[in-house]
Amino acid sequence: MKETVVSGIRSTGKLHIGNYYGAVKSFIQMQHEYNCYFFIADLHSLTTHPTPADLHGNIKQVLVEYLACGIDPEVSTIYLQSDVPEIAELYLYLNMNAYKGELERSTSFKDKVRANPDNVNAGLLTYPVLMAADILIHKATKVPVGKDQEQHLEMARTFGNRFNRLYNQEYFPEPYAFTYAKGLVKVPGLDGKGKMGKSEGEGNAVYLSDTPEVIRKKVSKAVTDGGPTAPNQEKPEAIQNLFELMRIVSSADTLDHFEAQYNAMAIRYGDFKKQLAEDMILTTAPFRERINEIASDTDYLRKVARYGAEKARESASKTIKEVRELIGFRSF
Ligand code: TYM
Repeated sequence: MKETVVSGIRSTGKLHIGNYYGAVKSFIQMQHEYNCYFFIADLHSLTTHPTPADLHGNIKQVLVEYLACGIDPEVSTIYLQSDVPEIAELYLYLNMNAYKGELERSTSFKDKVRANPDNVNAGLLTYPVLMAADILIHKATKVPVGKDQEQHLEMARTFGNRFNRLYNQEYFPEPYAFTYAKGLVKVPGLDGKGKMGKSEGEGNAVYLSDTPEVIRKKVSKAVTDGGPTAPNQEKPEAIQNLFELMRIVSSADTLDHFEAQYNAMAIRYGDFKKQLAEDMILTTAPFRERINEIASDTDYLRKVARYGAEKARESASKTIKEVRELIGFRSF
């Protein structure tokens, strides 16, 4: 039997190249080898209180972009999290054995509290429990995600194992983060500080749907410095990040060329950034074209979502039925 894979993306808008190289690219490659479930985490996105119109638009955008990246709805199961109420039910059961202390220690929770001290809601605190439910509902063992999700996967294993111990059954298998890259990926942003992300400020992320002009503009504004002051000098973070982006989108020859120039103190950041922008444009071009095509086909999108929800519910309802039995909800 094929191993099961689950992964999701929050429905907070457009996909950036961090999402693609960190997670989506591996999903696409996994489709033919594994039993794959890919979903849009629209319940998770409620922690930030989107308006109904924003939520609807963002869900559509993510669905379109997933498909444009190459997720094949005939091969994989692609669905909206909110179309599978069994996930919310499992979340409720798992919440009974998730403790405030461990949830408060989660790095992403602490980051969110720091960023938005006025909106520390229970959904935010239990975000990792909902994520565990997403994964455990299909008894998945492999979860293609970026480096930032590693701790959430550890928590999913904790909650699954705790359930197994409590009901004295080896019921949920242990899910692990997985990608085809060496180790989990962290794609840096253009602001010189850290990872590429939607909430890291305008200009930090390059989106798959960005036009070539926008990409050129964003990359040209990326943070650099006055240049190396000694041969073979260690690169400061902002420069290292741009080299890392080049490693991801450019050929090995191009990367070697600019590495050599940096080491010889002959690098011209203008040329370096121009090349980086052109390679980003090239790698994202096929997605951009398909995004526009698919977005205009509402009938197709509706069919994909309906078909995906049906397939996802088939698997999810089987799990929830067994879980209810194990917990002790049995018919008389
Ligand atoms: P989200 O929507 O923030 O990101 C979606 C995926 O993209 C990866 N990613 C990155 N990878 C490398 N470098 C980056 N700069 C970068 N930015 C984002 C993320 O690691 C993720 O794999 N909690 C999840 C969504 C989710 C989920 C799940 C994932 C909900 N339930 C169950 C897997 C399984 C999230 O917020 O991802």
